[in-house]
Amino acid sequence: MSDIYAIEIHSPVPDPVFNRFMKFVGEKKEERILKFRRREDAERTLVGDAFIRTIVCNQFHLKNSDLEFECNEYGKPFVMNIPDFHYNLSHSGKWVACAIDYEPLGIDVEGIRPIDFSIAERFFSKTEYEDLIAKPEQEQLEYFYDLWTLKESYIKARGKGLSLPLSSFSIRKDRTGITIESENEESWYFVQYPIDPGYKFSVCAGNFHFPVEVELLTPEELAGIMTSNGL
Ligand SMILES: CC(C)(COP(=O)(O)OP(=O)(O)OC[C@H]1O[C@@H](n2cnc3c(N)ncnc32)[C@H](O)[C@@H]1OP(=O)(O)O)[C@@H](O)C(=O)NCCC(=O)NCCS
Repeated sequence: MSDIYAIEIHSPVPDPVFNRFMKFVGEKKEERILKFRRREDAERTLVGDAFIRTIVCNQFHLKNSDLEFECNEYGKPFVMNIPDFHYNLSHSGKWVACAIDYEPLGIDVEGIRPIDFSIAERFFSKTEYEDLIAKPEQEQLEYFYDLWTLKESYIKARGKGLSLPLSSFSIRKDRTGITIESENEESWYFVQYPIDPGYKFSVCAGNFHFPVEVELLTPEELAGIMTSNGL
């Protein structure tokens, strides 16, 4: 079964916590984080990285200094030398989301804000766009973000980035659940969690053993977990 987490950041993350995470994530990541112009962007990436390192160290009884991260050719990160461990991260606004499992999976969180629906016409499949515009007007924005995050979670689970065209598969969410139509013969399953009314939070995985709830924590709690595990 997958584990799914959401970390709520109230920016600014206190300096002692921020600096502690910076030391923990390693030089390469530290350099990348220092290049962000906005503190919030730096914090989201930093917290996600510190979180996944903590999870892997605890789960596999490894030292932080022994962890090596790599990316596949489309940029999807993975932990070297732990073949049955898969994770995916997403960040938006005040949330950092992370899902882990023994099979590939993808996660996407997005803040709901007004959009121009021509984006949907451009990027969604024909069926998805038709489903969207058939909804009552007051439901369209929510449904747009349902589809957007579900599509993104699928692309992230497959790990092929946007080389997998967004219009090459169709997702539908209705009373019976969430389904996908695609050329791909593997089975993929979806779940959404109502963690925050201002956001959509979607997960896609190769198995349907999703947890009932998302585990919520804060950066300060994460720092506490690191301390209690001697990290
Ligand atoms: C980069 C991409 C993976 C997601 O981008 P995003 O939604 O802006 O970013 P998220 O916060 O959800 O995810 C970022 C994290 O995904 C992970 N990631 C990066 N490339 C990935 C890939 N190819 N596959 C899966 N995960 C990936 C990384 O951990 C990254 O976090 P980090 O940079 O802090 O390490 C990619 O799918 C993309 O560029 N999408 C474009 C968005 C779009 O047009 N969506 C339309 C949906 S209809």
